[in-house]
Amino acid sequence: MSSNNASKAGRKPNAGAFAQADNVVENYADMRIQSIEDLKTQLHYAAQFRAKYHRPFITVSYAQSIDGSIASRKREPLVLSGPKSWELTHQIRACCDAILIGIGTVLADDPQLSARRVDGKNPQPIILDTHLRTPLNAKCVQRNDVNSWIINGKTDSIPKIRVLEEAGAKPLTCATGTNGKIDLLALMDLLAAMNINSLMVEGGAQVITSFVNSKLVDLFIITIAPKLVGGLQVLNSRGLEAAQYLDCEQVHYQHLGNDIIVWARPGWKVT
Ligand SMILES: NC(=O)c1ccc[n+]([C@@H]2O[C@H](COP(=O)([O-])OP(=O)(O)OC[C@H]3O[C@@H](n4cnc5c(N)ncnc54)[C@H](OP(=O)(O)O)[C@@H]3O)[C@@H](O)[C@H]2O)c1
Repeated sequence: MSSNNASKAGRKPNAGAFAQADNVVENYADMRIQSIEDLKTQLHYAAQFRAKYHRPFITVSYAQSIDGSIASRKREPLVLSGPKSWELTHQIRACCDAILIGIGTVLADDPQLSARRVDGKNPQPIILDTHLRTPLNAKCVQRNDVNSWIINGKTDSIPKIRVLEEAGAKPLTCATGTNGKIDLLALMDLLAAMNINSLMVEGGAQVITSFVNSKLVDLFIITIAPKLVGGLQVLNSRGLEAAQYLDCEQVHYQHLGNDIIVWARPGWKVT
């Protein structure tokens, strides 16, 4: 993010490093990302990725049961991952410039969105919240270390914006699509302009579905926990409407405690 850019700003360009970066970005689809170390290596070049594609490198990461549920049917919080997988999730958070969730997850889980279980920086929290429904006492609003970005549709509700600002959040206006939700391509432009080089999308179901439908995924890191839930499916019925199904590539399975972590690249070409 900006801190990296700032520290790099005064440096003399290193032709060798740029050539290598170009190569990495050019061949990004061939890059094997099958561990947290691989991810850190890839994200070392995330600024070049953003410069080339005008959007951050996007990692979609969530936990599901064997039957594809990410929460109970009533959207009540569920502990799916074991402690080691949780730690991996926080490592991924610490690698990324920003972490994004939908207002549905804020209302259901009230997460802090920090990387407190590991050493490293906290990502910038981003909430998709078209109508500014984020509660003033939400944990991500109340954090002292960061102003969570509340991405809203163009709203005339100046009082709502003011109270959210006073509570510690930073509302940012973004274009909406024909479905009335935040236009993800417009959001990617906004994030690129704000020097967000890498983005972790954590949920929930509607948000993940929107990112997949928009082909805005560069990497999946999915925890599969040995549970059967019969709850909220990660992709809703509109999921993959454009493609019938999505083949993943460079798939790697990692055991962590009782969980399986799936590392996979989507089989589409980056745009
Ligand atoms: N297992 C996991 O890893 C995991 C991770 C995260 C969440 N969860 C679970 O997921 C559940 C919440 O999922 P959810 O589907 O109800 O809510 P969600 O995906 O968190 O949020 C959906 C809301 O975000 C807003 N939004 C704005 N722009 C959007 C866009 N372009 N695409 C999609 N949404 C957009 C919409 O509300 P507005 O129209 O009001 O803006 C929409 O209703 C919770 O039960 C939570 O526990 C599980």
